[in-house]
Amino acid sequence: MFDPFIKGNPLASKIDVSKIIADYILISHAHSDHVGDALEIAGHNDATIIGPNEVVNWFLKKGVKNGHNMGQGGFIKFDFGKVRLVNAIHSSQFQDGSPGGNPAGFVIETTDGNFYHSGDTALTMDMQLIPTRTRLNFALLCIGGNYTMDIEDAVSASDFIECDKIVGMHYNTFPVITINKKEATSLFEKNGKELILMEIGETRDL
Ligand code: NI
Repeated sequence: MFDPFIKGNPLASKIDVSKIIADYILISHAHSDHVGDALEIAGHNDATIIGPNEVVNWFLKKGVKNGHNMGQGGFIKFDFGKVRLVNAIHSSQFQDGSPGGNPAGFVIETTDGNFYHSGDTALTMDMQLIPTRTRLNFALLCIGGNYTMDIEDAVSASDFIECDKIVGMHYNTFPVITINKKEATSLFEKNGKELILMEIGETRDL
């Protein structure tokens, strides 16, 4: 699971946090709409929190039993596959004022395929490093603008990471990141790419 933001998210009111099963929770940065319900979900699953040092340390201080700290550029094997922590250009501070270190994204390599979760980030040249190490099957990119990349930037990001199947994230939750879904998918189509915009609670095989 990545960045679970459920109880505070009016779009996700039908999801029952107490029923979520997770072995690992990957947290990209410390903002409240990404830390979200991770403490509760980790607690009732004994899940391991994976993320940047300062983020994982905050969870351990709050009583989470299992944490795995990483630094940017680190690449390490877990039982589900390998995780590389990659750069994100953003900020990272917990709601209680604690520092969250540097924000991050994740590249995941598994026997079933590889993918990139951008976290919250600007378009960055560092994304061009990703395909030199990992051939991606799909990527989850932020597309809502204002705090992160917008749709146009996400199309450029998909070029940088050499990936044509993109799942959009970080849009429509707040008025300032509202997108026009039709315009978004057609801009990707025009560039020979697929943009998948999932419904809350939807599951998909990719
Ligand atoms: Ni953020």
